[in-house]
Parts: sequence; structure tokens; C-alpha cells
Amino acid sequence: MRIMSVVGARPQFVKLAPISKAITQLELDHVIVHTGQHYDPLLSDIFFQDLEIPAPNAHLGVGSGSHGVQTGAIMSQLDEILKKFSPDCVLVYGDTNSTLAAAISAAKLDYPIAHLEAGLRSFNRKMPEEINRILTDHSSDLCLAPTELAMKNLANEGLQERSVLVGDVMTDVLFQTKEKINSENIGNRLTGTTENPYYIATIHRAENTDDPLRLSGVISALANADLPVRLLAHPRLIQKANEMNVTLDRGSIIVSKPLAYPELVAAVLGSSAVITDSGGLQKEAFLLKVPCVTYRTETEWVETINLGWNTLANSEFEITQALNDLGKLKKVHENPYGDGYAALSAVQEIRDRFSR
Ligand code: UD1
Repeated sequence: MRIMSVVGARPQFVKLAPISKAITQLELDHVIVHTGQHYDPLLSDIFFQDLEIPAPNAHLGVGSGSHGVQTGAIMSQLDEILKKFSPDCVLVYGDTNSTLAAAISAAKLDYPIAHLEAGLRSFNRKMPEEINRILTDHSSDLCLAPTELAMKNLANEGLQERSVLVGDVMTDVLFQTKEKINSENIGNRLTGTTENPYYIATIHRAENTDDPLRLSGVISALANADLPVRLLAHPRLIQKANEMNVTLDRGSIIVSKPLAYPELVAAVLGSSAVITDSGGLQKEAFLLKVPCVTYRTETEWVETINLGWNTLANSEFEITQALNDLGKLKKVHENPYGDGYAALSAVQEIRDRFSR
């Protein structure tokens, strides 16, 4: 049986790592297609190296562009790739433009589709990711859900029969990386961050980077934070801050490049808290038992909030208040995200449903 993974953006490479291992373990054939949505080595190649993912079988090299341009560029090349490799199942990951493009292409050519991380909803249709998720779930033949809540969301949209709970594959890779870090002491490679307390911050979502008021609000809160803030700057943040004349390197902020995955996990493990608008990082902080402040109005990972580890903060004032109140959080130790074997369950499910 042949499974084709289509990936293109940083978080998808992280999810691909345990899936790739599970496919090898079950002795199935795996074709990896990289759309090229992310192309900077720090957002792409380094993940393949560190997480030991085989090199892609095809690289579409689409690069950046508006939503229509990027999604269309991927689709315009995928017909040929699908016909060339003729997979038994096309596996798509998460909620990026690469995810939606691959799902539409595969659906039109009648290839079975499985969607990993199905059923997440923010209920905010202004987010491009929310549109990508909904359309991908409804194009898919198999919705692989990470949580009970995701299963409920799928059932509410009439997708119950094609949905199955497998757990969260990012938990698999996080647990494996944490073990490696403990044994290799990667934390020591992070100069200047291991001894004194610090926060880790990332901001990259369009609703935050592209709005001058929201961008200057969060940067001002970080600059006035009570501890040094290591701001791991996505290229989009740098570009938008330059365009809007927002200075990033000031006050408590220390601007640094995005980190490779093991370094990121080590940096979060050593931090006092995380401030972010990333979905993945909220969950990584939770799993590493580090409190998180999320600069958004809502989150898809509501378990992190309900269990007391994560706080939504939607303005400069609310971020500052949330950082001041970190000590008051009533944190519950529970894991709603699976046992670290989600990738194996997902691939077994795909094999059982689609092998000919
Ligand atoms: C994309 C996903 C988002 C995901 C994020 C992970 C969509 C709609 N969004 O957002 O869901 O959380 O990836 O990081 O698919 N750029 C570079 N180098 C790169 C890639 C991008 O400089 O390798 C810059 C370009 O200026 C580009 C901008 O970043 O225009 C945004 O990149 P894009 O791929 O459109 O979206 P992300 O913000 O990365």
C-alpha cells in the first residue's frame, strides 16, 4: 500500500516525523510531497535533518504568495504528481494552504483522503486556517481526530461516520524529543538561556502581525515584561514590523531566529512561561508543564485552558496581567492528548480503510 503525505509548512514537518516512522514500521510505501510553502532552511530543511525525515520525493517549490496564488500554485502541480505516484491514500496535515490545496486536488481526482488533526475548530471564520480546516474535513474520507472535543465538532457537522479518535501526533514527537534532550543535554547548547529565568515568545499569525495596533500592543507588552523575553521571530513578523516601523529589539525583548525543533523544546522546558499565538506551541508548553499566555481571542486547544495551564490574553494590558498572574494559575495534571502513539494508530487506521 502507498500513502502520499503532502506537507509544506513548519508544523507539518513536525507531524510528518512520527507518521513517517509509523509507515516504515508497518512496512508500507511512503511518498512525501513538499509544496515549498515554507522554504527558509530554518523553517524547513532543519526539521527534516533533526527529525530524521526522508527527503521529499517531489518538491513543488511554490514559495510565498496570497492565499489564492499559493493554493492555486500547489493545485496546478498536484494533478500530475498524483497521477505519477498513484497513491492508495493522500494524507494531509493540519490547516495550512498546503493542506487545503492537496485535499481539493485529491478529491477532484478521486484519491481517498485522510486528514490528520481533523475536527479542530476556533469558530472564528476570519482565520484562514479555520476555512482550511472546515473545507479539508468535508473533502476527506477519513478524519483522524486528536481529541474527544475534535470528535464532537466533527459529529456536529455530520462527519461522525468517517471520523476516528487517534490522539495527537505532536505529542508523540514531543515525548520522543524530550527524552533525547534529557539524554543529550541539548539545553546547554542554548547560550544565555539556561541559568537565568526568561520567557519564550512567538508571534506569527496574520491577525496579529498584519494589524499595526495588535502588533504594537503585543510588542509593547513583551518589551515591558518582568523577565527577558526570547522572541523567536518568524520571517513574517520581521517583515511586517519593518513595514510598520515597529521596533522589536527593545526593553526586555531579545530577538532571535526561529529555533530548530530540539532546541525549541529545550528552550520551552527551561522557560518560566511561553507567550504565543501558535497553536502547536500552546500545546507543547502544556505537555512540558510550562504555563502559556496566548495572544488570541480563542483557541482550538481548549483543554490547555480548562486544565489551568493556558490563559487567553487579547491586548497589551491582558498580556501584562496574565504574566503577573502566572503564580495564581490552578494547574491540573492530566493529558487529554494521547499516549504518544497517535501516529501508529493513524497509519493503522489508514491501512485498514484504504489498502486494496
Ligand atoms: C503558515 C500557515 C499557518 C501556520 C504557519 C506555521 C497558512 C494560511 N498559514 O503561516 O497556519 O501556523 O504557516 O509557521 O497556510 N516567509 C518566509 N520564508 C518562508 C516562509 C514564509 O520569509 O520560508 C514569509 C513570507 O514573507 C510569507 C510570510 O512569511 O509571505 C507568510 O508565509 P505563509 O506561508 O503565507 O504563512 P505563515 O505565516 O508561515
